[in-house]
Amino acid sequence: MIDIIVDDITRLEVDAIVNAANSSLLGGGGVDGAIHRAAGPELLDYCRGLGGCPTGEARITPGFELPARWVIHTVGPVWHGGDAGELALLDSAYRASLELARANGARSIAFPAISTGVYGYPKDEAARIALAAMKAYEPCFERIVACCFSEADAAVYRQTLQEVGAT
Ligand code: APR
Repeated sequence: MIDIIVDDITRLEVDAIVNAANSSLLGGGGVDGAIHRAAGPELLDYCRGLGGCPTGEARITPGFELPARWVIHTVGPVWHGGDAGELALLDSAYRASLELARANGARSIAFPAISTGVYGYPKDEAARIALAAMKAYEPCFERIVACCFSEADAAVYRQTLQEVGAT
């Protein structure tokens, strides 16, 4: 099932949490910074060995000091107005993360609202893409969590879930 919650994703006791990273995979601000702080320095050391990640792809690492067993790092697109392939790249980031989690046997996975912070993706359009990908993979997981960081963001997700068809 798909859960929409408001929480700090680093606290969630799920098999995998997804990080909205940048292509260097060497950390940053926002949820990337929060996940690296909570996972501890071993996460950065491990990421250094991965050689980065292209936009729209995903890489898996251990969760180290996080409650989650894995962190799936994905790189969403920077919003440039919508005519630079952003929709396809954001969709790819969600589906690559879901596929990687499934392939590694994860039964629960939590996502932040990828690209909607620093990368400026419009929240309602991003929520539609996120929920469509989550619904496509719903049979593969016991639980898929949209972990919003504000009530306002959760309201956008709940409204959008109504539109794409509640589970
Ligand atoms: N838990 C859950 N969600 C969070 C948390 C948290 N602890 N911290 C921030 N968020 C939310 C933001 O409120 C936003 O809704 O994550 C969403 C994504 O925002 P960003 O973290 O800014 O990510 P993004 O827009 O994808 O930009 C990625 O930012 O931090 C850098 O290194 C990162 O360069 C990359 C860029």
